[in-house]
Amino acid sequence: MKTTISQVSKHLNEEITIGAWLANKRSSGKIAFLQLRDGTGFMQGIVVKADIGEDKFQEAKALTQESSMYVTGTIVEDTRSPLGYEMQVTDFEIIHEAVDYPITPKEHGTEFLMDHRHLWLRSKRQHGVMKIRNEIIRATYEFFNENGYVKIDPPILTGSSAEGTTELFHTKYFEEDAYLSQSGQLYMEAAAMAFGKVFSFGPTFRAEKSKTRRHLIEFWMIEPEMAFMDHEDSLEVQEQYVSHVVQSVLKNCKIELEALGRDTGQLEKIQAPFPRISYDEAIQLVKEKGFDDIEWGDDFGAPHETAIAESYDKPVFITNYPAEIKAFYMKPDPARPEVVLCADLIAPEGYGEIIGGSQRIDDLELMKQRYEDHGLTGDAYNWYLQLREYGSVPHSGFGLGLERTVAWIAGVEHVRETIPFPRLLNRLYP
Ligand code: 4AD
Ligand code: MG
Repeated sequence: MKTTISQVSKHLNEEITIGAWLANKRSSGKIAFLQLRDGTGFMQGIVVKADIGEDKFQEAKALTQESSMYVTGTIVEDTRSPLGYEMQVTDFEIIHEAVDYPITPKEHGTEFLMDHRHLWLRSKRQHGVMKIRNEIIRATYEFFNENGYVKIDPPILTGSSAEGTTELFHTKYFEEDAYLSQSGQLYMEAAAMAFGKVFSFGPTFRAEKSKTRRHLIEFWMIEPEMAFMDHEDSLEVQEQYVSHVVQSVLKNCKIELEALGRDTGQLEKIQAPFPRISYDEAIQLVKEKGFDDIEWGDDFGAPHETAIAESYDKPVFITNYPAEIKAFYMKPDPARPEVVLCADLIAPEGYGEIIGGSQRIDDLELMKQRYEDHGLTGDAYNWYLQLREYGSVPHSGFGLGLERTVAWIAGVEHVRETIPFPRLLNRLYP
């Protein structure tokens, strides 16, 4: 019977066949251990000369890394492996023999591995990271579907900017100018006025020339937007959503977390509610931690965020930033208009900002004023202003960066390993 590694627990003591690649192998004179992978998981296959015969045993010993084959054998328990099972191989049939696979079990440099990303994805580590990414996406749909949100897909080609004008990828759209979307938010606001609670999930593009372990040029964002919800309501959604995602990964990705050596004790603590500190308090905290030159009105950099996160073992919301350093659409605090009703969510363990969110300006005149203040002119935003003209309501939303969230949950240092084919400042290939 043909099945997969993920299903072997249902076939204890039965003979099955899987299609697999040889990830690795070691052998002695009488026995060979094949590390098999089939995409669904990794499993050891044991080939015993006395059982399989001399010729087949020599063939097994000669198998090369990443050769593909059909392997048949009996599934037995193996308490030492994370899978809990292994295969006693009775037969195998080579489909294609791989010669000189470039990624060997020895150490390779990062640039070499990135150049071979199309092959590197086969490794146990990359497999673990991508399975965790997949689980985060699954748990995201689950959370928003269960809580009454409608998935809405904003456009990727846009005529104007959502977050600021300097970070846009420009392209021609026939005779017109177009830009790749930095954020679907403005469109999600329109959707919230039509459907109440909405979320999007799609690629976004930033042309900023950042070369840090937290920045990609192309990254995927989850952007919920909620009508009739204020800033505080939105923070509650965010902490529940992030907790749900982390707990789902803990429950459904045990093998992958173990393969990555992730300290799951840190993740078990991630349960709502999350701590909140104001921007003012955060400035104080950072000063106390030895950053003397930071002043009220400055934005936080990665070292500041890491210093703030050190004080907490859960993600922490930094709320109410100065209006000047945040986007034009954020609603000023009525009690203190120099700050806006916003929050960044900072992940623990130095992974930095994973969410940016805010309550949006719902007053038409104020929104027009903010446009002028930010030097945004022309008719491109007229449709967005009309949302404030016809039945405007308090509304809030946020954007969660998928790759930074994967990096944190999987415990991976750099976001380049958290997306299948990263687009970086110096990399558009493979
Ligand atoms: O803070 P940002 O820029 O917020 C927005 O785009 C809002 N319009 C979202 C909204 O309210 N609907 O981006 C949101 C998140 C960040 O917190 C970060 O996790 C991620 O997107 N992000 C990046 N991830 C990887 N590489 C980059 N260059 C990123 N820029 C932002
Ligand atoms: Mg941000």
